Amino acid sequence: MTHKVAVFAGDGIGSEVIGEALEALKVVEKRFGLSFACERALAGGCSIDAHGVALTDSALRVAKESDAVLLGAVGGPQWDDPKSSVRPEQAILGLRKELGLFANLRPVQVSRHLINSSTLKPEVLEGVDLVVVRELTGGVYYGRPSERRTGAAGREAVDTIFYTEGEVARLMRTSFELARKRRKKLTSVDKANIMATSRMWREVAHEVAKEYSDVQYEDVLVDSMSMHLIRRPRDFDVIAAENMFGDILTDEASMLAGSMGLLPSASLGEGKRGLYEPIHGTAPDIAGQDKANPLAAILSTALMLRLSFDQEQAAQTIENAVDAVLASGYRTADIAQPECRLVGCKEMGRLVREKLQQ
Ligand code: IPM
Ligand code: MG
Repeated sequence: MTHKVAVFAGDGIGSEVIGEALEALKVVEKRFGLSFACERALAGGCSIDAHGVALTDSALRVAKESDAVLLGAVGGPQWDDPKSSVRPEQAILGLRKELGLFANLRPVQVSRHLINSSTLKPEVLEGVDLVVVRELTGGVYYGRPSERRTGAAGREAVDTIFYTEGEVARLMRTSFELARKRRKKLTSVDKANIMATSRMWREVAHEVAKEYSDVQYEDVLVDSMSMHLIRRPRDFDVIAAENMFGDILTDEASMLAGSMGLLPSASLGEGKRGLYEPIHGTAPDIAGQDKANPLAAILSTALMLRLSFDQEQAAQTIENAVDAVLASGYRTADIAQPECRLVGCKEMGRLVREKLQQ
């Protein structure tokens, strides 16, 4: 069976890291007798330059006809004009919404080889293993109105956070199911002391929690969570959060692992199709210089193999290869340590392939 993979390298370091991810996939394809048909399409700034929009209908079709989507990153300063109605980010928001990918899984594990490259103390990081389940197709990202206008007091702007009970319930179910397969603990993040959407979020979460009495459940306010996440990260297993809270907390959580360049993510909907992407951005400051860390993109292919294609062994092989390279002391600049062997994006990719072939 051939798996159709839609590939959106995107902008900035996107094409560099996706290049290495696809090379790793080729090795896995051979080694495990799998078959992938990769189709490339444009998304983000590169699509704006070529077609005037961040995501064309035909690019969207490529994604819709695929079994999984692999994405690099989108955006960059050249498309940052605040007055422009076309923005690179519309591509990723469009893909998430159009493919119905409402649950974004962002696992954070601290590799013992990298425990010293974090800015946090090793004793805080030892044994950290958590997953943030971020709601991905609702909240302020899609709420309307979202606009600037002129009012009596001059310039005004409004954004809207909107959730339906169904959107909250399905996210909570995904989170509880995941917690059941892990350490059976779920932390739901909200701002129920201020926001109406959060109060409904909490109410619905409690209703769903009744179906999962085997899972230990807690509510934590988002401001408090941002503190606990770096004070006692080991205590968390699955963390469920609405779209923007999840966005912010996962950047923070990436610092537990040591770098944004290490964290993969999976965006899932009702079916098997998922979108897999590193959580990092396009890093325009280092783009085109062979300095990016390809590990988050490579690890995203592992999530794809596991979650969309049920290839657990192949997924683990990739994760083990990454771990082995880190164990040998190789580091890209973002995770460099004084005595490490500093390598670029391409060399890091090659080292992972070398381990994958062993
Ligand atoms: C992420 C990114 C995106 C988001 C941007 C690029 C639209 O920060 O995937 O975390 O905010 O969702
Ligand atoms: Mg983000």
